[in-house]
Parts: sequence; C-alpha cells; structure tokens
Amino acid sequence: MKKIFRILIKVLLSLVGIVLVIVIIAGIYMYSNFVNVDKSDSFRKVPVKEISVDGYTFLDLNRNGKLDIYEDTRNPMEQRVADLLSQMTPDEKIRMLRGAGMKTVFSLDASNEVVKGAAGTISAIPRLGIPTIFLSDGPAGLRINPTRKHTDKTYYCTAFPIGTLLASTWDVDLVENVGEAMGNEVLEYGVDVILGPGVNIQRNPLNGRNFEYYSEDPVVTGFIGAAMVDGIQSNGVGTSVKHFVANSQETNRNNNNVIISQRALHEIYLKGFEIIVKKSQPWTIMSSYNKVNGTYTSESRYLLTDVLRDDWGFQGVVMTDWFGGKNPPAQIHAGNDLLEPGTKIQYRALKKAEKEGDLSQQDIDTSVKRILKLILNSKKMALSRFSDNPDLKAHARVTRQSAAEGMILLKNNGVLPFTNVNNIALFGDFSYDLIAGGTGSGDVNEAYVVSPAEGLANAGYTINEEVKKAFNAFKQAHEKEFKKPSGTLMAMLKAYNPPEMVPDKEQLVQFAGTSDIAVVTIGRNSGEGRDRVEKNDFRLSADEVEMIKNVCKVYHSAGKKVVVVLNIGGVIETESWKDLPDAILLAWQGGEEGGNSVADILSGKVDPCGKLPMTFPVALADNASSANFPMGGQSMSINSFLFGKKEKPEDKQVKNIDYTRYEEGIYVGYRYFDTKNIDVSYPFGFGMSYTSFAYEDMNVKVTDDTINISVKVKNTGDVAGKEIVEIYVSKPDSKIDRPVHELKTFAKTPLMSSGETAELKMNIPVRDLSYWNESTSGWTLEPGTYLIKAAASSRDPKLSKEISL
Ligand code: BGC
Repeated sequence: MKKIFRILIKVLLSLVGIVLVIVIIAGIYMYSNFVNVDKSDSFRKVPVKEISVDGYTFLDLNRNGKLDIYEDTRNPMEQRVADLLSQMTPDEKIRMLRGAGMKTVFSLDASNEVVKGAAGTISAIPRLGIPTIFLSDGPAGLRINPTRKHTDKTYYCTAFPIGTLLASTWDVDLVENVGEAMGNEVLEYGVDVILGPGVNIQRNPLNGRNFEYYSEDPVVTGFIGAAMVDGIQSNGVGTSVKHFVANSQETNRNNNNVIISQRALHEIYLKGFEIIVKKSQPWTIMSSYNKVNGTYTSESRYLLTDVLRDDWGFQGVVMTDWFGGKNPPAQIHAGNDLLEPGTKIQYRALKKAEKEGDLSQQDIDTSVKRILKLILNSKKMALSRFSDNPDLKAHARVTRQSAAEGMILLKNNGVLPFTNVNNIALFGDFSYDLIAGGTGSGDVNEAYVVSPAEGLANAGYTINEEVKKAFNAFKQAHEKEFKKPSGTLMAMLKAYNPPEMVPDKEQLVQFAGTSDIAVVTIGRNSGEGRDRVEKNDFRLSADEVEMIKNVCKVYHSAGKKVVVVLNIGGVIETESWKDLPDAILLAWQGGEEGGNSVADILSGKVDPCGKLPMTFPVALADNASSANFPMGGQSMSINSFLFGKKEKPEDKQVKNIDYTRYEEGIYVGYRYFDTKNIDVSYPFGFGMSYTSFAYEDMNVKVTDDTINISVKVKNTGDVAGKEIVEIYVSKPDSKIDRPVHELKTFAKTPLMSSGETAELKMNIPVRDLSYWNESTSGWTLEPGTYLIKAAASSRDPKLSKEISL
C-alpha cells in the first residue's frame, strides 16, 4: 500500500515538474517573441544635444559633431529621409518595419520616458538619435494606464463620447473641436499617434464595435471622420484611421473572409476612408484583420497601394491591426509598412525573405522611408517636452457639451423639457451607474463618470430617496452580478450584464406618490472581440420590458409621466415598447460627463439637436445584412488572435464565421429600407427638437464641376435650437440599379432663437454623383436629370430641385 502511495506521489511530482517546465518555456517563448521583441531598443530618451555649426543650431542626432542633411530641418523632407535611410544598416531597416513588442502594454519598462499602457511602438534607433514613437488607442479618448509604479501622480484621460454619438451631432465643427481636445491629451502625455478614429461601416446592428464607428452611411462617416482627424492632428500628433477595410463584424475577426462586390466595396466600405484621406491626410491608416475576397487586407497590394496611394494620394504610413495578417513579406510588399505591435516571428520572416530575395530592397526602403517621414515630422523628434498634465477640466467641458449635442430625442409627448418637476424617481441600473463608453481597446481610463442620478442632482433636481434605497438594497442582494470585470481584457471576455430591479405594483404606487416623474434608463455594453446577439441585447430582456411596463402603468394612472433614457452603444429594438413611455431620449454612451449631458437635455438647458446616423429597424431580420451576419455572439479566440488560424478546406468553412457574403451589396441601412419601402421604427437622419423648423428658399445651381445648394431654415417654435439639413440625391430614370436616394452632403444651422432664419450653403462635387462601374473598374456619371432633396430625415423630404447633368 505504502509503495503504491509513494509511486503515486512520485508520478504526481513528476507531472507537476513537467507542467512547470512547460509553463516556464511557454512564458519565455511568449516573452521573447511577443513582449520584449527588441532588446536593443531603447525606450529612454536619446541623449541628444543641441550644437551650433557655422552659426546654425541643431540637434546633433547621431552625435558626430557635424550637421548631417537629415539633422537640418531647413532641408526638404524627402532629402532628410533619403539621408537618414542611407545611414541605416539593413538590420535597422528590418527592425523599423515591426514594433518593439508589448512591453509598453504591460508597463514592463521602468523608464519614465515610457508611456505606460501604450498599445505599441515604432522601434528607436539610438545610434541615429531616433526616439521611440508611441502608439495608443483610441478612439473615444486616449487609452493609457492611469497610474504608474513609484509615483502618486495619475495619468487619467478624458472619456469623450463614443464615435456613434459624435456622428449623431452631424456637426463637423463640433467634432473637430472634440478632436482638438483629444489630440491635446495625446500630445501632453507624450504619445505620437492615437489609434483612431474608427470608421468602419455599421453594416448590421449586432457588430460589437459599432459604438466606435460613426454610421451606416459613408458620407456621414467621411465628413465626421475627416473633422476628427483634422482636430487631433492640429496638435502636431498623428491619427490612425481604422480598420481598413470591411471590418464590420467581430466574430472570427482575425480570419473572416469578406466576399463582396467591387461596387459595394468602393461605394460603401471604402468611400468613408476615401473622403477622409482626400480631405485630411491622416498620418496613418490601420489595415483590418479580415480578408477581402480571399486576401488579408494587410496583404492586399490592390487596396493598400493601387487604391489608397495611387488613386487617392495617401502620403502616410499603413500599420497592421494588432498581430493582423499572416505573411510579413507579403504585407510589406503590399504597402503595409509597419507590423504592430511587432513579434520576433515577423522579424525572422522578414530577415529570411530579404536574404532569399523574396522581399525586394525597394519594398523595404519604400516602407522605411514612409515611417522615417512620420518620425521626422513628430514632436518627439524635436525632443519637445510634454507636460503629462493636460487640462482635463477644460476637456470635461468639451465632452459635456458635445455629448448633449449628439443625444437624440426619439419621442416627446409634451413631457420634455421638464416643467414643474422636482422629485425624480430613477429606475434602471444605469440611472445610477452610466456606461460611458464601450469595452476593449476603445475603452478609456477616465478619472470619473457622472451618472444620470448625479447629473440630475447637479442640475438641482431631487433624486427620489425611496427608489434609490430600494435600488441599493437590490444591488447589495446581487453583489456578485454587479461586480464589473476588471481591466480591458476581462471586460472583453466577460460581459457586464447586471440584473434589473423590477418593482411590483404596490412598491410603484408608493414611489409614484413621492415623485413627480419617472426616468427609466436602459443600458447596453459591448465591445471588441464579440458581436452582440438578438435575445436580451438587441431586444430588451423580459425584466426590462416589465420594468418599463409596470412603471408606465402606475405612473400614468397617477397622472404622471415616464421618460426612457437609452444608454446604449448600438441599435436596439424599440418598435414593440416605444408606445409605452411619454418620451425617449437616445443618450448613447456620452463619456465621463454623460449624466450631466442627459440632465442638460431633460432640463431644457440644451435643445436636443442630434439625429440618427443609422436606421432603427422594426426587427433585426429587416436589415438586409441580417441574412449574412453571425448571430451567435461567439467570443474571440486568443490563440487565433496571436497566432492566426490554419486555413480550413473550402468545404469545411462555416458561413458568417469563416466567410461572410455581403449579398446585400450597396443596400446597407436606409439605402435598403427606403428603396424597398420597408417600415422602420426610426428612420436614418431622424431626431426631434424642443422647437420646430421650416425649410424655405432652396436654390440649386451647377457651376463648373460643382452643385451649389442653399437652403434657408427658420426656427418656427418657441425656444432656441439647431437643425440639421440632409441633402439626398435621386436619379429617377436611372438605367442602373441604384438606391432610391443617397445622402451626399449635410449641414447644421447655428443656434437660432425663436423666429430666426439661417441660410445654409452646401456643395457637392458633380463626380460624387457617379457610381462604381464594375465593367470599367472606375466611376461613371450617368447623364440626365437628378433630383436634389433637402430633408429632415431620409423619410422626411422638405424641398427639392431638379438639375440636369
Ligand atoms: C484593435 C485595434 C486597436 C489595437 C491596439 C486591436 O485589437 O482591433 O482597434 O487599436 O488592438 O490596441
């Protein structure tokens, strides 16, 4: 017996030993291949001095005591880049093509010069005075670690409103202003490029990352995205417009093959990027994880060189999404200059390809030159100091104001703004704990989040104590389910979905007796790595429906009103319950000041002036894309994220996971609903105000290559407000298959007081009326008559004029 026992112990110990050895070997492998990729890379500030030669003072970057061409900032950039390139060794060039690993993500470098929590870097070359360049997420604000070892100082960033909310403002000046504030934090925290904005098309309501993106429409996406890039880059820091292209689902995002027509690709999915590149020249573009028609986007020379650079004139750097693509030499050859965050496996593959002639010196030099240009243009290069101390208070004001202007009033039966309201009964978890933004890399480490309860209290209202007490007791009884996953990764892997308190009739009668009005907040959280699902997410849960129903029933019979606030990041079902409450405010996820912004709208301090940048359908299945979209909400696999996945034989590939057919083609969002005349819950471009507007005097003139449009808008209501005018173009007698109309431009009035009129002037380049002609692989303009409509939503045309082209 004893012997058997001893043998068992020995076997067990040996097993533990083997496991330990495997864990240690795996740890070393992971550390050296993915984390500490470039040992010789110095994160420290390069010890460079200013010297003077022949009366010219400059940074002696390579410390040779002489003025090199690349050190002389008076020289043209091309010459400086060429000189610097000529001083680099072949190995230094290869090291520049891939980042230095994930050291910054895990805060493993003790140096103070390191931005802790930065997602990636461009490797330094200390010998030539080239510092490390830091790349950090994006896009709702800068994402860096808020605390650091050995100091009490904090490094919080502002959680600005999510991209979808900013697009809902339809206000390019406002978005540029937000970008300016965001970019200032990038600059002041020593980061060089922020990984945003995210500009993928919201093809289906269930995409988990829709909150980071702007719209189902490429023109809204392009105009808002360009304003964001302009604002951020006005600080002398860069943006990374992502994810290029057709990355409209999270399920199997690293390997999914998008099968799409060239027309849909160019008219819908590339168009937003095209507008941004042409208007704003972002410093960088991030290629996406997915394949397009069988080729990883990061390996597609057609997309990255022929389209992006040759056709559109993009001048900057293309970087991969994190660990994206499979074949490093093919990526460099395609024009994907920088592999992020960089692995040793990629480094070895590039070295081998260079040695064996599979990657040409010209391809290497082309990409290195683009990266060098970015570095020489960076503030880091001028060794300018950063304060680590941006004005977070000023930026909080920017986020509060912008969030209020992107919130959308969906319904109002005379209840808003509050009149004769003092005591407010707040129902719903998120009335007390607002969701400021989504999860994953798009999350921001902000110092605080203002809840609707706090916002309303700040605005002078009384929050009903009895409801609050009942809620706190409910929360305590469900302590475990109210525990939020900690950290970015955990939040990605585990959804935060706390239960809702559903008060019974008796309780509600009591609450209604002590309050003037009820506000019910419905929240949704989603993010990177997983798509949403229909049940209990797109559709409300049974508890949520019951909560709204019960509250409405009791409050209405007490002669009191109910307002529903939607604290969501993407489209949900509204048709089945929207008749119940008296008002619905789509508050989106409004960043750290979101609760104050909600209060600004409910109180009437700000007139609601946002409109929907996407359609709210009656049912999920009504979206044309729902026939080809993953409905399972499958989680991301870390394994395939880091190492990619083996190609499956064609007959083993699973629809919507291994490949997704964009069968709806160009019929995305309103292009489909309006063309097929399908009932929707709220149409694209819809949003109400506390005032009303009249559209007058529309003029349309075609001069040279431009359609010039002017429209007058009069505030015909009682309070000051702003109106968004949307310009749709139709081609009634078209010979080709086209949507019934397409948005081509838009504008927002300034704040107009009651009775005031504003004139809006807009231009559409004639070529923007062209369609992508698959037989010529180019844009074709159909001659004939076009109808230009000025509308308040895609279903609410106000004035129109015909033109002939
Ligand atoms: C995301 C990117 C992000 C990057 C760095 C990736 O997983 O898809 O949007 O910028 O990580 O955090």
